[in-house]
Amino acid sequence: MKHTDVVDIFSGVTPIGSEVTVCGWVRTFRDSKNMAFLEINDGTTLKHLQIVIDKNEIKNDEFMRLGCSVKVVGTLVESLVMKGSVEINAKEVVLLGDCPTDYPLQKKRSTMEFLRTIPHLRVRTNTFNAVFRVRSVVGACIHEFFQSRHYVYVNTPIITGSDCEGAGEVFKVTTLGYAPQYKSQEEYDKNDFFGQSAGLSVSGQLEGEVAAMAFGKIYTFGPSFRAENSNTPRHAAEFWHIEPEVAFAELPDIIEIAEDLIKHIINTVLTKCPAELAFFDKFVEHGLIEKLKNVVSHKFGVVDYTEAIEILKKADKDFVFKPEWGEDIQTEHEKYLTEEVFKKPIFVINYPKAIKSFYMKQNPDGKTVAATDLLVPGVGEIIGCSEREWDEEKLLQAMRERNMPEEQYDYYIALRHFGSVPHSGFGLGFERILMYVTGMNNIRDVILYPRTAGGLM
Ligand code: 4AD
Repeated sequence: MKHTDVVDIFSGVTPIGSEVTVCGWVRTFRDSKNMAFLEINDGTTLKHLQIVIDKNEIKNDEFMRLGCSVKVVGTLVESLVMKGSVEINAKEVVLLGDCPTDYPLQKKRSTMEFLRTIPHLRVRTNTFNAVFRVRSVVGACIHEFFQSRHYVYVNTPIITGSDCEGAGEVFKVTTLGYAPQYKSQEEYDKNDFFGQSAGLSVSGQLEGEVAAMAFGKIYTFGPSFRAENSNTPRHAAEFWHIEPEVAFAELPDIIEIAEDLIKHIINTVLTKCPAELAFFDKFVEHGLIEKLKNVVSHKFGVVDYTEAIEILKKADKDFVFKPEWGEDIQTEHEKYLTEEVFKKPIFVINYPKAIKSFYMKQNPDGKTVAATDLLVPGVGEIIGCSEREWDEEKLLQAMRERNMPEEQYDYYIALRHFGSVPHSGFGLGFERILMYVTGMNNIRDVILYPRTAGGLM
């Protein structure tokens, strides 16, 4: 169907006075004695296009319904009411798809909770139009960041035999149903599709390291799956994960890359999505644009885990979880550190080795690892990062302390055997950074079909 995108109508490339064909869904309509007005949106911009209908010329009116889809042929004119804007004087309006009056998206703003029950329709609202436009721009600019810096984009396997994070949150992949004849888990696994136990990847890091040991600098951008039963606004069972891995890089080097990436993302959104940001600033998080501008113009903070625990212990706060050296930094602690103490994104570095993964480089103190989490106000952790243990003996020792099955990690250990190098990497949660740049406060509202414990939509 030949037609002009509404975004091009507003961009000024189509001359005033031209005859155009536009398509879209009816977002509002008004009727009077001689005239009728439709506002349509085709999804190519947040803006609605006004269609002016002379009822003496156009007799049909079956398109005067919220949600129906139309094709309009008419003349592009300057708006009489909105100075500097344009509208269409209709010559013909064709109803493409009717929409009955029980259409769930009525003029009144619906709650986010209600919209989550209609994921197939909520994408037609202004909020989701803005969210997914930003999501698309951010996805593209992440590729651009790495591509322009000579990183190789690799796709790591989604079905794997190893649990990278070792947290036991792996979804099983199986073709075998319940089979009481198998005497043991091992026997059951042997009879399964792969002849061994398999699951959905929680992270592409381990295979990413394989690629980095050949191509120097790589990144992955794909889905990760975690069977965490945590019903929080920032956890999803299926999320998109960006994982760069860099050879010959130590912790300070990778921290610099992570900060540059976050600033690149924010700068791109500020430049390419001004209308969407203005929308979020007005309806979702007041002061969002100011916050983002502020973040890109200041250096992120760096604080040692041990110092962070000291700050938390001295805080005049009634934390549910008492801060203690050796314990995880909880959401309430992250909030206090980023929102009340530092008031900006911070890298917390050098965590106790016992609470972190086996692959992290052990610091000379014997107690901590060269790892960092990037915490941001409002969202908390958006990046998990570390220098990798590249000494074969130390890696084996960390695996043995955790009773890990070494034979499953042969290839990973071999990387330390054949030309090992210092290397580092991180994982950025795509939905977490989207929450940060849009101000949306629930991960379920920045992903098309959120997957969380308790049901599939
Ligand atoms: O800190 P995590 O677990 O680190 C890793 O997976 C490393 N293998 C990354 C690496 O070094 N290559 O996860 C990294 C990030 C988190 O900071 C968070 O942003 C996101 O992934 N993330 C989740 N996002 C949404 N829902 C979940 N359940 C998430 N779990 C982690």
